[in-house]
Amino acid sequence: MPLTRLDKFISSQLNISRKDARTGIRRGLASVDGAQEKDADFKLDPESNSVIYDGQAVKYKKHIYIVMNKPAGVLSASEDKKRKTVIDLVPERLLRKGLFPVGRLDRDTTGLLIITDDGDFAHRVLAPQKSIYKTYIAELDGDITDNAPELFLRGITLADGTVCRSAYLKRLSDRTAEIKICEGKYHQIKRMFGVVGLGVNSLERRAVGGLFLPDFLKPGECVEMSEADLNSAIFDSNCSDNA
Ligand code: URA
Repeated sequence: MPLTRLDKFISSQLNISRKDARTGIRRGLASVDGAQEKDADFKLDPESNSVIYDGQAVKYKKHIYIVMNKPAGVLSASEDKKRKTVIDLVPERLLRKGLFPVGRLDRDTTGLLIITDDGDFAHRVLAPQKSIYKTYIAELDGDITDNAPELFLRGITLADGTVCRSAYLKRLSDRTAEIKICEGKYHQIKRMFGVVGLGVNSLERRAVGGLFLPDFLKPGECVEMSEADLNSAIFDSNCSDNA
């Protein structure tokens, strides 16, 4: 991998400013392969040199992947001048430049949201042709009719004429449904239920592909994803038409 400057490496991996990294390096806080390094312009190979800064090992990660339990009332956006966004909730230790939510949940929708700085990964999760199904639990304002699962499976035509791909609807109680969709049209689930005469009182995302919202994650909390989590998110053993 190409060589990079010590100050740049430390500032990007630890999310501190380049100026602070340079000051710290000059003060003797950095070492490379066990030897103190006070030259901020020192060139290193992030994959093979081991760096310690301020007593902490700085491991190279090209990208970061985070699972958040999105609370109601925050925007799925990278920034907003007035309102709080999901990025505002990411703890300092996981913050990086270029973070964005993988797809948008409505402001009042809760549950599993992936946040990353890796555009290729986001595309694999979101592109409809990849058929990664996202699983939601919807609380409805009326009873689910017997024919609703069949209508969802055939593909709902929204009020504006947009045809949705096959969706899987499972009745969990008279007014509670599990629904799986593989697209992210604007307000899609609310509009799909609107077509069958039902309003959505609450919506929670429980899974993306085979990656489930961890039980331990409270609303607003984040956890870094493991390699296994990444694979689960882009493969769904529950729906057979994965690419
Ligand atoms: N469908 C919706 O209507 N809202 C969401 O937030 C996600 C899917």
